[in-house]
Amino acid sequence: MSTEAIPLTAREEEVYRERTPASLRFFEKAREHLPGGDSRSTVFYPPYPVVFDRGEGCLLFDLDGNQLLDFTGNHSALIHGYGHPEILKAIQVQLRKGTSFPGATEPQRHYAELLCRRIPSLEQVRFTNSGTEATLNAVRAARAFTGRARIAKVEGGYHGTTDDVMVSIHPSGTEAGARSEPRAIPNTRGIPREVVSNVTIIPYNDIEGARAVLESTGAGLAAVLVEPVLGSAGMIPAETAYLEMLREVTRRLGIVLIFDEVVSFRVAYGGAQEYFNVVPDLTCLGKLIGGGFPLGVFGGRSDIMAMFDPSRGRPAVLHPGSHNAHPLGMVAGATTLELLTREVLAQLNSRGGALRQEMSRAFAGAGIPAQITGVGSLFAIHLTEQPVRSYRDTLTAQADRRHQIFLGLVNEGILIDPRGVGSLTTALGEEEVRRFGAALRTVLARHRGA
Ligand SMILES: Cc1ncc(COP(=O)(O)O)c(C=O)c1O
Repeated sequence: MSTEAIPLTAREEEVYRERTPASLRFFEKAREHLPGGDSRSTVFYPPYPVVFDRGEGCLLFDLDGNQLLDFTGNHSALIHGYGHPEILKAIQVQLRKGTSFPGATEPQRHYAELLCRRIPSLEQVRFTNSGTEATLNAVRAARAFTGRARIAKVEGGYHGTTDDVMVSIHPSGTEAGARSEPRAIPNTRGIPREVVSNVTIIPYNDIEGARAVLESTGAGLAAVLVEPVLGSAGMIPAETAYLEMLREVTRRLGIVLIFDEVVSFRVAYGGAQEYFNVVPDLTCLGKLIGGGFPLGVFGGRSDIMAMFDPSRGRPAVLHPGSHNAHPLGMVAGATTLELLTREVLAQLNSRGGALRQEMSRAFAGAGIPAQITGVGSLFAIHLTEQPVRSYRDTLTAQADRRHQIFLGLVNEGILIDPRGVGSLTTALGEEEVRRFGAALRTVLARHRGA
């Protein structure tokens, strides 16, 4: 069929549909028993997402046999790509020993030691099954430790799916209130009003605004929760002075400072806290930390973590969980970190820098205004002329056009996150970064003036 009569913006979808009939058939069938055909809200995109069959290194294969170069790393949850032989070996050894036990295991102790050595602020840790549970327990610990109920989080910050933190993640410009004094807006229906009213929202990278909000709420706050790189809002790094301000204010007001490093951990050997040289009281980890398995970690100051210790009577804070510290996640995660040496990370980060440069050049060359944000191996595309330093700045970006570019990239064999975000894995080399650049230029050439 000739594509000449089809408007440019519809053409990508036309090609996408031609390439992916098996994914469409899958969704038609899957919708019968799964609302929308899947169990993960954030990975849906129209007309229907690609369905995966398998992964190999930096490649993904869909149900139609199309190959995609993976620049998502499962939304930053994989840092060594698919099927790394050493990770597979560690999993196989553990599989033979057992997958689930009614108590502690040596792989758990080993991984805890490895994490605490790597991230100096982690004096002690506990393992959960997800980043969501890590932030839930960190917040609960902060409340128990301070005896206060209210928490503060950043506008645009994502910390998982518990009620307390599903607030002001993607508020619309009309509901969000004043820029320096944002309103708390539930991110989904089903969150009780009382929960939302217990959350203070602070602006990101706005030192004076955030300080004023914190000081006015001050002594009532149990915790301030912040991502050192705002992930879901589009890989927006914090400014060092902003994190330093949060550290100073929280220390002065007796508030627990929690860094959610579920995404940002990968920016430096000891996480973003090493990169920015700002030390939190508690840290939450997730995603890549499980080496491909569902895993979360929270930890930090031993006087706070001591509240979980049951060895001297009933602990102040309970933390049960049938699969906490799951042995497969322990060995896959520990092997992942052992492979992620300072040298490997430096190379990965420099590849990330090269990719962001390629992207900036491609947009500039096509004359399409765009901001490429990110740090280390993280990147995001914002189709706006305005510099992006906070969630508010992303509200001017063109989401429809970004979606067309996303579909265009898929049509060229490149996968990023549908919201224009991505992260590199160590399985991607220089050649793949060049291929990304070439594919992006091809797609933008199709969209110039559209
Ligand atoms: C910064 C951040 N915190 C917490 C979470 C929640 O982690 P999980 O999806 O493992 O529950 C995510 C997930 O995307 C995240 O990006």
